[in-house]
This record gives sequence, C-alpha cells and structure tokens, in this order.
Amino acid sequence: MTSGDFKIGILVSGRGTNLQAIMDAIENGELNARIAVVLSNKKEAPALERARKKNIEAVTLNPKSYADKKEFDLALAKELEDRQIDLVCLAGYMRILGPEFIQKFKGKIINIHPSLLPAFPGLDVQQKAIDYGVKFSGCTVHFVNEEVDGGPIILQAVVPVHESDDAESLAQRILIQEHLIYPRAIQMIVENRLHIENRKVSYKESVS
Ligand code: GAR
Repeated sequence: MTSGDFKIGILVSGRGTNLQAIMDAIENGELNARIAVVLSNKKEAPALERARKKNIEAVTLNPKSYADKKEFDLALAKELEDRQIDLVCLAGYMRILGPEFIQKFKGKIINIHPSLLPAFPGLDVQQKAIDYGVKFSGCTVHFVNEEVDGGPIILQAVVPVHESDDAESLAQRILIQEHLIYPRAIQMIVENRLHIENRKVSYKESVS
C-alpha cells in the first residue's frame, strides 16, 4: 500500500482536537493515510470546520432525521462504505455504535478514551478519576467491540494526577498525550503491525 492509499473515516461530535492531531500527523508525514470523510452527528461541531479548512469532506447526519438508532447507524455505515474506508476512527464521537455497525466494520473501528482502561469507562471520566483518588490516569486507544470502551487495547499513555487538579486541568494534561498516541496507533494499523490474540494486542515488525 502506498502512502495515502489507506483511507480513514473519522467520526466526531465536538471540538475535534484529536481530528486535528491526525490531520497534522498526515501533513507532517508521520501518518501515511488519507482522511476520506469526517462524519458528525452534530452540525455545530467545530471539528467539521477543522476538516473543511483542510479540504476534507465533512458531513453531518442528524439522528433526528432517522426512524431509530439502527437506521442512523446504517446511514453512517453507508457513508463509510461508499468511500471504501479501511479504518473508522472515533475522535470524540459521543454516541454508542450499535451492534450491526460494529459487525459491519469488525476489527476496523478504533477509539480514543481519556482514561487508562479498563478503569473509568463511560463519561466524565476525568472527574471520576479525581473522585476515586487515583494518582495516575491517562488515555487509551482501543479497538471497538460491543462492550462500551471494552475492546482490545492498542496504546496507552500515563499522566500524573495532581492534588490541585480539577477535571479540566486533568483533561488538558491527558489531551496532550491523546494527540501523540492516536496518530501513532493509526500508523501501526496502516503498517499492519498489530496482532490480536484473545483480547491481547501485540506488536510485530512492519510487513507493508
Ligand atoms: C477526548 O478527550 C476524547 O478522548 C474523548 O472526548 C474528547 C474529544 O476531544 N472521548 C471520549 O470520551 C469517548 N468516550 P476532541 O473533540 O477535541 O478530540
């Protein structure tokens, strides 16, 4: 596969700093992939504007325009299938994907989550980490399966939790690491360097 042949579809709901990190990594030559489309469930998501600035197609699908969650997921899947994407990256996508969608793209969906999974799946996880009293937190890039935030772990990064932290300051510290590990994890997939057995991901030499 030559540089740029690997096509990514990115799902967003908000700010889009992880999308930005992925676009920057592509621009810097650290990530040999092309973003075929950015899909959002929210038309006001600033991530859409970030994509359009780089001439990347950015499409909103309004969940209210579909009969139910399954129909919405089907429409989402069609956008990705039409563009023959190789990998779906969730970058601050705040809807849970249904089992049909996950089956369709089995092994080809990854997510970034702002905690050291399996600790603190779900929402508001920086606050949960502070409330629990952990001394370290971080972020996780993982494959997406039917269990929310429960798929095989690809990469993690650790940050300290300070006594003075609130959710926002901890989120900022974690975000810096998210922007480093997410493009790196995608590049490992581009290079076909991941091997999954049971739920364990191991790294192999590049075979591409
Ligand atoms: C990131 O911190 C990401 O890890 C988190 O949302 C934020 C999105 O920021 N994702 C989740 O919590 C998914 N469960 P961004 O829009 O600036 O990339």
